[in-house]
Amino acid sequence: MVALKIVDSHSGEGENTHLFETVAMNLLTKGYSINPNALPQELSESLWVHLQNMPNANFDKAGVGRNKDFRLNNFVRNEEICWINGESDAGAAWLRWTSDLQTYLNRRLFLGLFSFESHFAHYAPGDFYKKHLDAFQGKSNRVLSLVVYLNPGWQPDDGGELAIDVKEGDDCTIKITPSFGTLVTFLSQEFPHEVLPAQRDRFSIAGWFRVNSSSEEKVDPPL
Ligand code: OGA
Ligand code: MN
Repeated sequence: MVALKIVDSHSGEGENTHLFETVAMNLLTKGYSINPNALPQELSESLWVHLQNMPNANFDKAGVGRNKDFRLNNFVRNEEICWINGESDAGAAWLRWTSDLQTYLNRRLFLGLFSFESHFAHYAPGDFYKKHLDAFQGKSNRVLSLVVYLNPGWQPDDGGELAIDVKEGDDCTIKITPSFGTLVTFLSQEFPHEVLPAQRDRFSIAGWFRVNSSSEEKVDPPL
C-alpha cells in the first residue's frame, strides 16, 4: 500500500520548521531569538518590492499610546509607519507566514497567542526610537514582539541597530544590524530596546502577537 502524506500547501510549514523550532527554543531558554537571513527569500523579496512601490502618502508619523491615548512625541520616536492589513499580495503572504509562526509557537509553548498586528516602518536618516518596552506588565496584552528588516546591502557603519537590554546593567546590551531578512523576536514585557539613528533610510516590519483580554465588560477584537 502507498502511504499518503498530506501536505498543507498553504502553510509551507516544512520550509520553516527549523526556524520556528529555533525561535521556540530560544524563547523558552532566554526569552529572545535573533536569526540572520531567516525570512524566506521569496517573502522578503516581495515585501521589499511592495515597499519600493508604496507611495509616501501611505505612511503616517508614529506616535505613542493606543486609540484615544495616541499622541505624537518626537522626543521618543519619529519614524513613519504603515499598518499591514493584508490587502496587497505581499501583505497577505506576510500575514500567512506570521500566522504559521503563531500556530507553531502556540502548539510548542502553549503561549495562547490570539491575534497579530504589524506595520512597516521607515526610519529616515537620523530617525530613532528611544528605549521603550512594547508592553507594560498588567496593562497590555502584547506578549511577543517580532521585527524583520528589509535593507539590502546594509553596512556596519550605516548604524540603525536595534539595541536590546538582555539583562539589567551596563554591558548587557545586544546590538542587531538591520540586515535584509533578519528576524528578531522577544517577550514584549521583558526587554527594553531602542532603535539607534542610521545614516541611510531604514525599513523594517514590527509586529506583536497578543493574547485575548476579553472579559464580561469588554470584548477584545482580534485585529
Ligand atoms: C518598535 C520597535 C524595532 C526596530 O517598533 O516598537 O522597537 O528595529 N522597532 O525597528
Ligand atoms: Mn519596540
